[in-house]
Amino acid sequence: MTPRDWVRVDLDHVWHPFTQMQEYRPEENLIIARGDGRWLEDVQGRRFFDGVSSLWTCVHGHRHPALDRALLAQAHRLAHSTLLGAGNVPAAALAERLAGLAPGGLRRVFFSDDGSTAVEVALKMCFQGWRQRGASGGARTEFVALSGGYHGDTLGAVAAGGMELFHGLFHPLLFHTHFLPSPDCYRCPAGRSRGACAFECARALGPLLDRLGDTAAALIVEPMVQGAGGQLVYPPEVLRIYREETATRGIPLVADEVATGFGRTGRMFAVEHAGVEPDLMTVAKGLSGGYLPVAATLAGEHVYASFLGAYEELRTFFHGHTFTGNPLGCAVALANLDEVESAGLVTRVRERGPLLEEELRRRLGDHPRVGDIRLLGFMGGVELVADRTTKARLPLRDRTGHRVILAARNAGLLLRPLSDVLVIMPPLASTDDELEFLVDGLAWAVETVLGPNPRRPRPPAPAVPRRGALDLLPSPRCSLLRDRILVTGTDTGVGKTVVAAALGLAARSLGRSMACWKPVESGATGPDGDDQALYRTLGLAPPLDRWPTAAFPLPVSPHLAAAAMGSAVDTEALVARLRGSGESLLVEGAGGLLVPLDGTTTWADVALRADLAALVVAPDRLGCLNQVFSAVYLLRTMGIPVAGVVLNRHAAQPSDASTASNAGELARVLGEDFLGTFPGLPALDPDGLRGAGVPLARRLWTGPEADSAPGS
Ligand SMILES: Cc1ncc(COP(=O)(O)O)c(C=O)c1O
Repeated sequence: MTPRDWVRVDLDHVWHPFTQMQEYRPEENLIIARGDGRWLEDVQGRRFFDGVSSLWTCVHGHRHPALDRALLAQAHRLAHSTLLGAGNVPAAALAERLAGLAPGGLRRVFFSDDGSTAVEVALKMCFQGWRQRGASGGARTEFVALSGGYHGDTLGAVAAGGMELFHGLFHPLLFHTHFLPSPDCYRCPAGRSRGACAFECARALGPLLDRLGDTAAALIVEPMVQGAGGQLVYPPEVLRIYREETATRGIPLVADEVATGFGRTGRMFAVEHAGVEPDLMTVAKGLSGGYLPVAATLAGEHVYASFLGAYEELRTFFHGHTFTGNPLGCAVALANLDEVESAGLVTRVRERGPLLEEELRRRLGDHPRVGDIRLLGFMGGVELVADRTTKARLPLRDRTGHRVILAARNAGLLLRPLSDVLVIMPPLASTDDELEFLVDGLAWAVETVLGPNPRRPRPPAPAVPRRGALDLLPSPRCSLLRDRILVTGTDTGVGKTVVAAALGLAARSLGRSMACWKPVESGATGPDGDDQALYRTLGLAPPLDRWPTAAFPLPVSPHLAAAAMGSAVDTEALVARLRGSGESLLVEGAGGLLVPLDGTTTWADVALRADLAALVVAPDRLGCLNQVFSAVYLLRTMGIPVAGVVLNRHAAQPSDASTASNAGELARVLGEDFLGTFPGLPALDPDGLRGAGVPLARRLWTGPEADSAPGS
């Protein structure tokens, strides 16, 4: 598939969320292929800084080694089991962890899948909780929320949403919600200016709750920042008033921390800015570091207690999603929280947030089309306006915010606006250089679309930091993919066969059973392949009737060797056989990765299509660094997992000056992907082979997942 093919396939079939598909132009259609740290890369190889943390989720960066490891280790144990009437280890551990982190007594954790579902759970808990608390409970059907609030797109969350654009249409379907004025300090509903008000917006809550009396069910708010409503940062006093007014009347306060939770605003949870303890709290987005949909609703003991009773009292909370408490998501969330703590990210965001805001103001604060810049921690926005004095909005049809973010892409910056508010939401672990890159790109894009700032020189387009070729090479270890391996070489005659045999024997002595198969061989002297004969002697070959070798005597590329015999290599059948087999296999290639098997299909194509990881064998001699790096570069860019790299020191091969440093250099650049040096042994020495293979096999199959690898 070419990059253009992906754009077409996507446009043909994907109905994008929050996107007018009729106006969606192919050139806008960015197809992301991979991520690396705080950077995303599209199918054309263009790199972008992830300025909105992949919809506010990414905490450390993409492909974070510790999160990858946690996910893979968990996949090795258990991908899913239900929480309905049973538990699982990661969910229990995560619930305990969340209870320990959450403010006040929010000790009860109800898992769900995303922000919207966590909000549904909270709203239903409030409603049902009242019903179970006595006579007046049944009448409490009225919710209170904030104008400009956003809590998700499922119908309960929409009912509590205060954004006419998204929610207005659905009013006929929704339960009744009363909306307080938005605590919007830029366009204050009471006409005050920021920092000079009596919090009139929040003071409207008391009289409203009095009026609602015992029909009021709960207040739901986004603490400290109304996110989707325009990144509206509001003072902690407002949140304190919400708490006081609800607490004095015994009304539950739901803090929707879906966007603000886990350090985003410079506190673990945004309610901490105000010292407020809610009755219920919803979390999602950053919980799993941007890896998997995991969400939770945390409830105080009094909420939980109102659901307890004998089964026939029907106080059960009849709610639960299929993937609730999914072990993979919970395991990666635990690793994420570990990393947040060990990297001191909350403190870092608290310290860096004001510097980021200051820099945005310095670069953009006096631009004639920039009305407001607001930030709390790493969450905020730059609001574009038609007129700074009147704060008049830009015409909707101009889609100015959208045009700015398209321009930003040309500066290597990925953003998504909320109308004309340019959202600033970098991953929490962004480096100072990356934050600077974000500000540079944003300033450049604003001036590109809205004209230069007459008060300062036009900034140059920021250069997207280039990655060197070697930076592309290390990959996260992935033991799941190390059960089906293509043993390939940087060249022909580098010792693939002895390394495959050594690993096959060592695997068996470590309690794994792996068969060695050489599907195609040219230059063969026997009818079923010389290597296959060797494997059979060592007891490693799978039965020949099911795994035959296409062996051709002429020592040239397989398609030419086959043609010389009036035959052809059937790569389709080869791929189908490999795909259909659930067995653990060491498949030995012929020559290197780009050797064509049928004239067009290479070993690399077979590995890709048959889901094989590649183990690269290289001779320990001058030139091997270039050969290994070229092979690994190819694997990485094709998306074929690297099982490892082995240097083979051939007994017959004279050593040269490079052998003193080759292994060290491979380890330096490839990290754990370099499995070590094989001491070059004769092929028919099973004990020697096994002994030499064990250290490689251990490195190949052990690691953080060692406990699930039998015998290791
Ligand atoms: C405060 C808040 N609540 C709930 C949601 C909904 O979350 P999700 O999109 O994961 O359903 C969002 C999403 O942006 C949000 O910002």
